[in-house]
Amino acid sequence: MSFDHDSLELLAEALRTLERGFDGLPPAPPRLDREAARAALLAAAKRMTDNYPYHHPLYVGQMLKPPHPVARLAYALSLWINPNNHALDGGRASSAMEKEAVAAIARMFGWETHLGHLCGGGTMANFEALWVARELRPGAAVAASAQAHYTHARLSAVLGVPFRTIAVDGHGRMDAAALEQELAAGGIGTVVATLGTTAAGAVDPLPEILDLRRRHDFRLHVDAAYGGYFILAGNLDAPARRAYDRIGAADSIVLDPHKHGLQPYGCGCVLFADPAVGRFYRHDSPYTYFSSPDLHLGEISLECSRPGAAAVALWTTLRLLPLQRGGTFARGLEAGRSAALALHQALEQDRRFAPLLVPELDIVVWAVRAASARAASARARQVFDAAAQRDLHLALSAFPRAMLEAAAPVRDWDAGEITCLRACVMKPEQREWLPEILRRLDAASGPPA
Ligand SMILES: Cc1ncc(COP(=O)(O)O)c(C=O)c1O
Repeated sequence: MSFDHDSLELLAEALRTLERGFDGLPPAPPRLDREAARAALLAAAKRMTDNYPYHHPLYVGQMLKPPHPVARLAYALSLWINPNNHALDGGRASSAMEKEAVAAIARMFGWETHLGHLCGGGTMANFEALWVARELRPGAAVAASAQAHYTHARLSAVLGVPFRTIAVDGHGRMDAAALEQELAAGGIGTVVATLGTTAAGAVDPLPEILDLRRRHDFRLHVDAAYGGYFILAGNLDAPARRAYDRIGAADSIVLDPHKHGLQPYGCGCVLFADPAVGRFYRHDSPYTYFSSPDLHLGEISLECSRPGAAAVALWTTLRLLPLQRGGTFARGLEAGRSAALALHQALEQDRRFAPLLVPELDIVVWAVRAASARAASARARQVFDAAAQRDLHLALSAFPRAMLEAAAPVRDWDAGEITCLRACVMKPEQREWLPEILRRLDAASGPPA
């Protein structure tokens, strides 16, 4: 396995271009003790080898995708300036780039107007969305499915907002009937629909949830931190397609460019349909907002300092790979989904395994068949370890009986949940690597129980 070194030449060329922009200044060369820096850097490189090989196609574990080379280069390039997108005096160009990149994401969801910005990640983005929701619906509860990201319950607690868990159906999607019951009981101010759950990649039934909004008054937040970009994919099944087609009806949306958007970590995005919610952010910062009457991004975000580098990397990536259906970026997502389907089909043919759901996006989950639920969990852990020894890196996740029963992995339910194997097939090249992935899984799994 070799890393891409060639693209570093592009960085050197871009750096010279950036440098020329400051030619008029008297020289102020940096002082660097090269030998000491070299030793420190090589020590860091050595330490970093103690990681799973996230970048490699044989890593199909967690939701981890390598940044695009151009994102990596643009991020590094911007560090020679190190802009801060809190205020325009800290990051004039990079703030403009952030506004353009965020507007492109909003347009992807069909929004020509919006209020939004980048932030540290999905948790921070959801936090802002739930905070604005609380300001608009004081005292009312947040409702999200049992498969929603765990942080929604925690963020609600931080905000002092009651939280209600809505049951999921056999597909891991929010059960619209269960939601209706909770809505009828009263007290819910905000419903969180997850388009792409973290564990199984399930897509909540947005059209049905929107139907309920006609009868019950609530705010709709869509957590599409992981799944949002799939709106561009041309190979979704009908239920997921229908959900994505209605995403523009939400009041707020969260999407993480650092998951499927080919960005380094530290890049989440929150969007609001109504720009007027900017009033909740109103504050003064006498130290920073003096340089321009134009909008400083700090005026519409909860965080103060933020890396302009994240905006530069995202803007550059979008310039290379626009958010278009049928475009190169969309084809990458489609490759992941078709790899997930192919993996699911292969697992279905294997009597050792019981795949739970037809993947809606690019996450595949399967139980290892055994006599009892506990034994199935133990078998999954064994396969996980044996696969890792063969350089095939999977993930583990527990699922409730309600989501497992249709796959019938066990006869004896001696536990309410089973730890399953999970694969996030997020790298487009994993479609070609599938035979090798399956060979290693086969070797790691041994004979049927
Ligand atoms: C659906 C969903 N929401 C929120 C988050 C939290 O995002 P982050 O880890 O960027 O804070 C995740 C992370 O996997 C997620 O999948």
